[in-house]
Formats: sequence, C-alpha cells, structure tokens
Amino acid sequence: MIPEKPPQENVFHGSEELKEAHVPSFDKYRELYMKSVDNPDEFWGDVAKDFFWKTKHTGQFLDYNFDVTKGEIYIKCMEGASTNICYNLLDRNVHEKKLADKVAFFWEGNDPGDELTVTYRELLQRVCQFANVLKAQGVKKGDRVSIYMPMVVELVVAMLACVRIGAVHSIVFAGFSAESLCERIVDSQCCLLITADGFYRGDKLINLKLLADEALQKCRDKGFPVGRCIMLKHLSKEPEGILGSQSPPAKRPCPDLQQEKQAGRVKKTRPVPKVPWNPEVDLCWHALLRGVSDECEPEWCDSEDPLFILYTSGSTGKPKGVLHTVSGYMLYTATTFKVVFDHQPDDVYWCTADIGWITGHSYITYGPLANGATSVLFEGLPTYPDVSRMWEIVDKYNVTKFYTAPTAIRLLMKFGNEPVQRYKRSSLKVLGTVGEPINPEAWQWYYNVVGEKRCPIVDTFWQTETGGHVLTPLPAATPMKPGSATLPFFGVVPAILNESGEELEGPSEGYLVFKQPWPGVMRTVYGSHERFESTYFKKFPGYYVTGDGCRRDKDGYFWVTGRIDDMLNVSGHLLSTAEVESSLVEHEAVAEAAVVGRPHPVKGESLYCFVTLNDGVMYNSELEAELKKQVREKIGAIATPDYIQNAPGLPKTRSGKIMRRLLRKIACDERELGDVSTLADSTVVEQLFQNRCCTAV
Ligand code: WTA
Repeated sequence: MIPEKPPQENVFHGSEELKEAHVPSFDKYRELYMKSVDNPDEFWGDVAKDFFWKTKHTGQFLDYNFDVTKGEIYIKCMEGASTNICYNLLDRNVHEKKLADKVAFFWEGNDPGDELTVTYRELLQRVCQFANVLKAQGVKKGDRVSIYMPMVVELVVAMLACVRIGAVHSIVFAGFSAESLCERIVDSQCCLLITADGFYRGDKLINLKLLADEALQKCRDKGFPVGRCIMLKHLSKEPEGILGSQSPPAKRPCPDLQQEKQAGRVKKTRPVPKVPWNPEVDLCWHALLRGVSDECEPEWCDSEDPLFILYTSGSTGKPKGVLHTVSGYMLYTATTFKVVFDHQPDDVYWCTADIGWITGHSYITYGPLANGATSVLFEGLPTYPDVSRMWEIVDKYNVTKFYTAPTAIRLLMKFGNEPVQRYKRSSLKVLGTVGEPINPEAWQWYYNVVGEKRCPIVDTFWQTETGGHVLTPLPAATPMKPGSATLPFFGVVPAILNESGEELEGPSEGYLVFKQPWPGVMRTVYGSHERFESTYFKKFPGYYVTGDGCRRDKDGYFWVTGRIDDMLNVSGHLLSTAEVESSLVEHEAVAEAAVVGRPHPVKGESLYCFVTLNDGVMYNSELEAELKKQVREKIGAIATPDYIQNAPGLPKTRSGKIMRRLLRKIACDERELGDVSTLADSTVVEQLFQNRCCTAV
C-alpha cells in the first residue's frame, strides 16, 4: 500500500530546517501509517491521551459498517466517552498547558491597520460570556444555531459558545444569498440566527443584516419562523446606524469593545450600513453581553453527539447538511493539523480560507486551537488594497505556516514576482494548498517564488465530508511531486476502482474511494440518512465514494483529477450544475438550461450556461443580465454565470437525456466530438458551435 522506499526521480524534498519534525522521515511515516491501519485502537488511543475526557470510552475505538449490503451504514468513534471540544480547545490550553497569555488570533481586518489580538484567556472569557447569552435565550444542547457572519473573532466566539453548551452550529458562508441562507436554516430547523450588520470586501460594502432579514422573511413565508436574530455591530459603532422603533441603547459599556475602539478596529472614514431593526426578533450582541458572567460550565457531550452541520453542494441540486460529531472530529483535525503543518509551539499559522467553508472550520478553528496554535484570522482579500497584501501580512506577523488555495495562487501569479518579492517572507517554513488539483505551473511558482525553494508544499486533498486531510504529503517525510496529493494520512485506506467496482492495483486510473472510516469522517446527512447512504455508499458497496477521479502512478502516488459527478469546482468551491440550472429555469423566459464547466486560468472552472427560451421570447443583453442576477440572488456571487449562450435546441439522446459531454466540447470549442451515434438531432450541435460565446458576460 505505502511504497517501501520513497520515490527518487522527479521529486522535491522537504526542508533541512524540519529535521526535528513530528514525522521526520519517510520510514517513520510508513511505520506510523502501518500502526494506524493495523492497530487503530492503540494509534488513536495514544492521540486521545492528550485530551480531556469526562468519562473514558468503552469498547472499540472505531466501530463501523461501511457496507450497505450488510445493513445500515454507521461510524462510531470512542463510544461511551464524554468530553467538550470547547473545553479542550480553550480551558485545557489556558489551565493545563499554561497558554493563557499566548495569542490565539491576530485578527487582520479588510483595511490595513484594522487589527486585534486575542489571547487564549480572552477567547475563553468571551466564549463563556456568549455561551451564557445563548443559554439565556433558551438555546439548549442539541439545538441548531445558524451563523452568518464575516471573518471576525466573534464568528469563532459564536461557534465555540454553541459547542460549549452542546448546541450544533450551522455556519453559512457570508457570500451566500438570502435564499441559500433560508434554505439551510429551514433544513436544519435552526432556533436562532447570529449575524452582523455588515462588512467590507475590499471597497465593497456588504449589508449582511439586510440579507439576514430577507432570509428570515423567506423562512416565515415557508412557515418556519425563527424567533431570534442576534446581530453583532461590526461596522456601525454608533446606534444611529440602526433603524427601527427600539434601537439598541446608545451607550455600550462592554469592556472588550471599548478596547477594540481604541485599537481602531474599523476605519472611521467608511460609510456604515443603515440597519433595519425589528424589536420583535432582533437582539444586539453587545447589549446582550452586558453584565453577563464570563464563566460557564461546559456541557459534557457523548462522543457521537452532533458537533456541527455544514452544507455542501449536492449533485441533485439540494445542498446536503454534512454532520460531524464530537470526539472523532476533534482527534482527527487536531492530529492532521499537528502533523501536516508540522505544528511547533512558536509557529504563526495562517489559513486564508473563510470559516464558512470546511477548511476554515477544521483548520482555522478546531485543529489550530486544539494544538494551542497562534493563527492569523484575515477578513480581507488577497488583492486589496493591492496584490502584495498576503506577503505584507506574512512579514507583519512572521507567518511560518501558510495555507491557501490554487485559485489564489494562480490569481497572484498573474501579477508576476515583484509584488511577492517586495516582502521578505523569510519566516515561512511550510506552504499548503487545498480545494482543487493544483496545476504544476502554479505549484512551481508557489514553491520557487513564494517559498524560495525552501518550503515544502503540502497539497492536501480532502472534502467537507472527510472532516480533515485524507491524502497529503507530510512536510519533512514525503518527497513531493507537483500536482500530486501523494499518499494517505494515518488511518486512511484509499483505493481506485474501475466502472465495475473492481479494485485496481499498481498504476491505474478510476474512482477514488476509501475502504474504511477514520475518526473525522462525516456520520450522516442531516435529516436524511438515506441520502447519506445513497450518495456515498451505494454505487460501490463496501466503499466510501468521493466523487473524484484519481490516477495512481508507478510510485504509488495519488493524483486527484477532479470531480466525476455533476459538480463544478469554481475557485475551489463546489457547485452543483443542477442547482445553477434550476435557478435559471425559475426565470419566466427560460424553458430549459444546461450548465457545464469551462476551464478558467484563475478560477479553475467557469460556468458556461446554455439556455433554451420559451416560445416567443427574444434573447438580448437585458435578459442575459437578468439571468446572471437571478443566479446570484438565488445562490450567491460564487455561482454567477461566466457565459450564457442562447440555445434554441440542446443536444439530446434519443431517449431525451442532455448530452453534457457535447456541451463541454462546445463550451471549449473542441471539434473532436467522439461517439455521437446516440445523438437525436446532429444539426443542433453545429448550430451551437456557430453561436458560441467567446467572451464572458
Ligand atoms: C476538491 C474542500 C485535488 C475535490 C476541503 C474534492 C481537491 C472537493 C483538493 C471537496 C486537492 C479539494 N487536490 N482536488 N488538494 N482539495 N479538492 O467539500 O474535488 O469544499 O472532492 O472541501 O474539492 O470540496 P469541499
């Protein structure tokens, strides 16, 4: 399974500086890997010793059924044990590990100069206070709480306050639309929404509260009224920004906010949003904190109690609420973070993802805090105020470990080396990437220019569903090949299957699957265990199916080639073609729509949409703009179509199925069509080629 000897040809080796690493050599990696697979109880049992357990587990470390033909799929880790993740992330570090004064987060705002520092002690106090607020609002263990916030420290506070009282957070990325937020709130039946007034992305003001209100109205329309909405005042310092009959009180003697004000948290020159205020529903974050104790006894949870729900695109169009549970997820994110980034006590770590995605959950909040790490929490954009911002921040905080996405690397690469070389970056030791396959050119640039050939690159393959990294190099142990996520992490057993479900040995290409669970794998789709089984376990009984294609080379290295279902990966974010199509079809002018991916130099893939209009409707630029807006409003800005083509007819098989394979060819202007014998009407294809869109809308 793991090659006996590391490959020697065409590889890059880790850095000399990492010789003291947690896993210092390939032999050590192999030895630990074998132990993790042959004896998972002992392997994970050792990891668990570093954490606090209110009660110990009984029985097997991992108990599971991965085979649908043998009954219901289940995965249980450390049954019988009870713990609290918030306690392990904060109290344990403050009290046992003596890290009270260590910085947990350097918050860097959208505008340079807006900054805050939060220590482990302060974070614990704030979390406890807010946990008491949630309790006072009647939130109980097991209740779902929706969080729709920008990248601010309070987002971490809100999520950990939920965890402290055993409530289940469901974070919705603040770039999603009101409609998407509503859909997620209703699906997980959230009792409360936590949001903020607004935030800036570069120069653009996002009126988050307006979107939150719109979402809550939609929830009411669907017969699911959410009783309470807590709003953080991130931008509006003064209550004049709040509209409504009972504005929150003018004086906010909340100590931590005053400190923020002195630190100049948000640029005073920016216009603040006017926030609608509904006293029946809305509550002011700061007003609620007044006089509230900063001590809160954690709620002890069973290992398999739900921890959070995070929605990911589903190929049918309806997002799936991926459910993770307490103990397995904690151990897995803590271990992957420690080993894959080779975390050391004096590191300053920076993951540029948003907490609204799984990368932010596992590798901004849970993994780093479980290790007592110091992280940068960045609100802004890589290109604002200029394309040097990332490297300016690296030097400002002496970042040692840096984790970003191929799309960001490709974006910055376009501006050449000078904006990078303006800063020293000498603190950097390990670079990471996640979200999509990294093309070798981007890898080389990241390695040569950003890391100056000194820093190993960990290309981490994983999914919302896997909870943490599953295929990845370890920085001092695994020789790297640009574009390959290399080998499995501890406890993970990958395989490649052909179309008939047979395991392929040696160099081969096919479906990437996993043969057994690891502690951090998802447990179910919230509200539909049936969907969980049919999405991941039915196609090939006995395996978890990732939905990705993969190649294995002669050295046993894995090369993930991308999605093989109806999903697109735009800037590292998964989108379902069905979801975009149904937003288009909702427009009264559209009879039918088909969406395919077209390769894009920065985003990886762009959205190329074919629309067939209803009889008598004319296609024009106004309609095109309306359709674009429609998708944006239904899903969010990340789903905005790049190309829309008027398609009087779509290529279909004789049985009426749209031939997406041909649409992809048309989108890319590739005339080699392959087998078209099943096509019902071949003139349709020629027409579509003639009217291709060459420029993005
Ligand atoms: C893709 C993000 C190649 C893949 C953590 C996967 C990758 C999907 C990589 C999950 C990588 C992620 N190399 N492909 N290093 N990392 N992917 O759920 O298609 O947002 O199935 O989780 O991203 O996306 P998700």
